[in-house]
Amino acid sequence: METNQPIRWRLGVMMVCLLRLLSSGSCERDRDFKMCGTWRHGNGSLTLIYDLKKGCDNITISANQSCLSVQGHITGQCDISMKLGLNLSKAETPFCVYWEPLLDQLTLEMEGKNQTLCPPSGLYDTCCTGLSHGPNLPPAPYGIFDAMTHGDPIGSLTQPAYTFHGEKTSCKELLCAEARQGSNHINIIEDATFRSRVLGEWELPCVQGSVLEMKEDFQGSSVNLPALQGLSIEKKPSIYLPSCLKDPGRSKARVVCSVFTNSSLFNPKMTDRNDIRILEHVVGITVENEVKNNLPEPVRITFHHDVISVNHSRTCVSWDTRTDTSVHWRRDGCKTNESSLEVTTCHCNHLTYFTILVELKSRPVRHLLSLTIITYLGCAASMVSCVALLIFLTKQRRAKETSAPVHRGLATSLFCLNFFFFFTGTLANVVGAELCKIVGAALHYSLLASFSWMALEVFHTFWLVYMVFSPSLKTYMWYLIGFGVPAIPVVVLFTMPDIYGVRQVIPMDDVSNPYKMCWLVTSDSALIAHYLTNLSFLTLVVLSGLLMLGLVMKKIQNRPEWKKNRVAFLSIWGLSCLFGTTWGLGFLDFGPLSDVIHFSFCILNSFQGFFLMLRFYILNKMRKQSDCSSQGSSTGSARQHMLQEKTCS
Ligand SMILES: *[C@@H]1O[C@H](CO)[C@@H](O)[C@H](O)[C@H]1NC(C)=O
Ligand SMILES: *[C@@H]1O[C@H](CO)[C@@H](O)[C@H](O)[C@H]1NC(C)=O
Ligand SMILES: *[C@@H]1O[C@H](CO)[C@@H](O)[C@H](O)[C@H]1NC(C)=O
Ligand SMILES: *[C@@H]1O[C@H](CO)[C@@H](O)[C@H](O)[C@H]1NC(C)=O
Repeated sequence: METNQPIRWRLGVMMVCLLRLLSSGSCERDRDFKMCGTWRHGNGSLTLIYDLKKGCDNITISANQSCLSVQGHITGQCDISMKLGLNLSKAETPFCVYWEPLLDQLTLEMEGKNQTLCPPSGLYDTCCTGLSHGPNLPPAPYGIFDAMTHGDPIGSLTQPAYTFHGEKTSCKELLCAEARQGSNHINIIEDATFRSRVLGEWELPCVQGSVLEMKEDFQGSSVNLPALQGLSIEKKPSIYLPSCLKDPGRSKARVVCSVFTNSSLFNPKMTDRNDIRILEHVVGITVENEVKNNLPEPVRITFHHDVISVNHSRTCVSWDTRTDTSVHWRRDGCKTNESSLEVTTCHCNHLTYFTILVELKSRPVRHLLSLTIITYLGCAASMVSCVALLIFLTKQRRAKETSAPVHRGLATSLFCLNFFFFFTGTLANVVGAELCKIVGAALHYSLLASFSWMALEVFHTFWLVYMVFSPSLKTYMWYLIGFGVPAIPVVVLFTMPDIYGVRQVIPMDDVSNPYKMCWLVTSDSALIAHYLTNLSFLTLVVLSGLLMLGLVMKKIQNRPEWKKNRVAFLSIWGLSCLFGTTWGLGFLDFGPLSDVIHFSFCILNSFQGFFLMLRFYILNKMRKQSDCSSQGSSTGSARQHMLQEKTCS
């Protein structure tokens, strides 16, 4: 008999919910009861009679010329029997009776005032709900007319009494069922907890928690949570509330902490993806009647969970309740602190529901060690080449050429890029997070500067070939564009949080030993920054390079020197394009091609400085060839000579 009880409740709840959903779309009405009507009474002395007893049977609201009475057996604890004199001005008085079985609260509203007949005193499980109206009585001269339950009319004529029959149900199950109705219904649980005036531990089938009262001298406190169903003591989350949670203007404030042990209530769309999930536990913190944002000291929530493998990332996320329409988990507002594989602490500066988002980190990289070695060799070769080129360019005669600032800019930015890339791994392990942020920004800046100098280099070559003379830009203008433009996004991004910092690259062979570098971190905002800066810059460089190549080809096809210098020309252009396109390989990083791409990308990129020198060497050689026929014009550039009508022979 006893063991059947929960099953019967659940069935009952489901049936009632289903019926209600079909008829009205909400389950809320089943739990709470609201009856309103207008009492037609005489002019003499009036009396209010309550007679409420424990049990779950019926409640009768009756009225005659001189008395309005509420009597019945529906309460859990409340046992009250009293008479009150009333002083009503009109002959007809509207009133409402509210019954909240979960709180065991009965309220009478009359003339705009609420009178609580049974005050709330905790959360009741076995309660009297689903009050249904019995048969109507014959009309009478005095009594109640225009009676309604939940806004639906049940009797328009004046009747002496209305009787409602209740059913024993599990109110807590009902409340959980209501919370499951929609993601933005979850806070009804906290609301109910506050209104029930419980202090200390409380429990519902779907959630357990504790209510704390912050008094005048609140100095911050950890919360004693109840032992959780089906959870060992060690797995219990722990919560610390900072002193700033209490508004100094209020003498005391209650805060409810709740722990949901089944996160399916938070029905996030992401649960149908298997590379991303949230923990089973969700912790909610709410201060009564207050919204808390930008706390100077964060609340700390420590989750004890099953081992989370290192190739999964953990992010503390908070339930966004700010918008009613689409509620979802947000990553901002919390800092994640991974104490161990089984413990994660969230430091959050606002109050809502929190949990941990677990997702597969960026794909582990195969052959990371070989790639790293190639990169180091390439970077070293590039740095040496760039330095050699810079020295070469400072020679008196060449320093005056219009192309010198462009080559110098590209060599400098590539040197910086290789330099920072060479040391980022070492630095990430040695320096602190703050310094790593600076190194990450510097690396990002040198990458963007390299892109912009590549674009300028390609543009310069294009101009020489297409227009036959050098672009007449002052040296400082070249530098302003090449070094100034990339500084803008980096400075902006640097001021924002969660952009630069330590980034982990996970080797396939040893996932527990990630390679660290100072770069853009793995966050949503950093990913957006990557798209907006790196990929869009690169796309621009590659596309404009291809476009200019097309234009040049069209223009010089018929010139005699093209036939002669075809190989040299293509090699120059090819090497110019190489800069852009090697980065373009990064786009193709998917599927079975991935390994080959990774290697080519790595080789081509890290040797870029070296290619730059090679390209310069070929250009120089060609200039010497053409110089033998046109001695006078030593300040012209190679292309200018190449395209002069007379040739060296
Ligand atoms: C209401 O319940 C009481 C107690 O069980 C019972 O005596 C009474 O007849 C019931 N009233 C109605 C109208 O059903
Ligand atoms: C009205 O009802 C109350 C109790 O319900 C009763 O005591 C009283 O005598 C009734 N008054 C009249 C005028 O019927
Ligand atoms: C009286 O209480 C009910 C529910 O408890 C509420 O809906 C209603 O607005 C309150 N009325 C007033 C005048 O406060
Ligand atoms: C959580 O609740 C959902 C739906 O109510 C259920 O399917 C799932 O099995 C529950 N998970 C656990 C771990 O109890």
